[in-house]
Amino acid sequence: MTSQPAPSAVNAAESAGNGGASAVPRHVAIIMDGNGRWASQRGLPRVAGHRAGAEALRRTLQAAADAGVKVLTIYAFSSENWRRPDEEISDLKGLMRYYLERELKRLESEGVRLRLIGNYRAFGPDLAKQLEAAVARTASNSRLTLVIALNYGSRAELAAVASKLASKAVAGEIAPESIDEAAIEAELDTAELPQLDLLIRTSGEVRLSNFLLWQTAYAELLFTPVLWPDFDEAAFNDALGQFAARQRRFGGR
Ligand code: FPP
Repeated sequence: MTSQPAPSAVNAAESAGNGGASAVPRHVAIIMDGNGRWASQRGLPRVAGHRAGAEALRRTLQAAADAGVKVLTIYAFSSENWRRPDEEISDLKGLMRYYLERELKRLESEGVRLRLIGNYRAFGPDLAKQLEAAVARTASNSRLTLVIALNYGSRAELAAVASKLASKAVAGEIAPESIDEAAIEAELDTAELPQLDLLIRTSGEVRLSNFLLWQTAYAELLFTPVLWPDFDEAAFNDALGQFAARQRRFGGR
């Protein structure tokens, strides 16, 4: 090993400063967890928790834009979420359609650009079309990018990268020994996005659940007991305060 930081660490240091007291993370990711528990605590069906979760997303997006965050990546549906009952999956799809219909104008007027990661086409042609139209309509916006992870799994993402690079090597387009961190990053779903600075998971669970495994290498991780439907501007700003108080060394001293 040399004493030089890895390329991704250099990019991360450039993207958010080095943890100074006023550092605002450029790229924040959120595992929005706890909708079901929020609902059952109130004797409500799970879908009521997801609906309240969509409201929490609206609030958080606004708070992120106001704070100067440039990219917000949310885990809306994991590749493991297909194990849920059909009824809940159908409720989540309906909610996504409703959210897009209701929020698209607001996203446009707030300067939000929409992007997708994961195999969202598995949700069927109607929702895929609606998602792609929303991406196209917001493509020239630049205040904040909202990245929705849909049917996303980080191990599948990394396996796809390996497969793509192997195909290029077999075709003679690249030399196997030229495959480095930058080559892998360039093939990730998150290529072109700034390095991830902060990952927040709500509801007290302390694990990554197959979300952004490569991208969290140098990110600050923050776990809060707040259930996602209760997450609001104050909770988001509290997370930003904790981020600013941390010293990011990227492997250095
Ligand atoms: C985790 O809570 C949440 C989800 C699997 C879905 C997240 C979806 C939303 C917040 C709806 C809005 C999204 C969009 C894109 C409009 P959980 O159900 O696992 O909660 P639990 O662990 O308490 O059961």
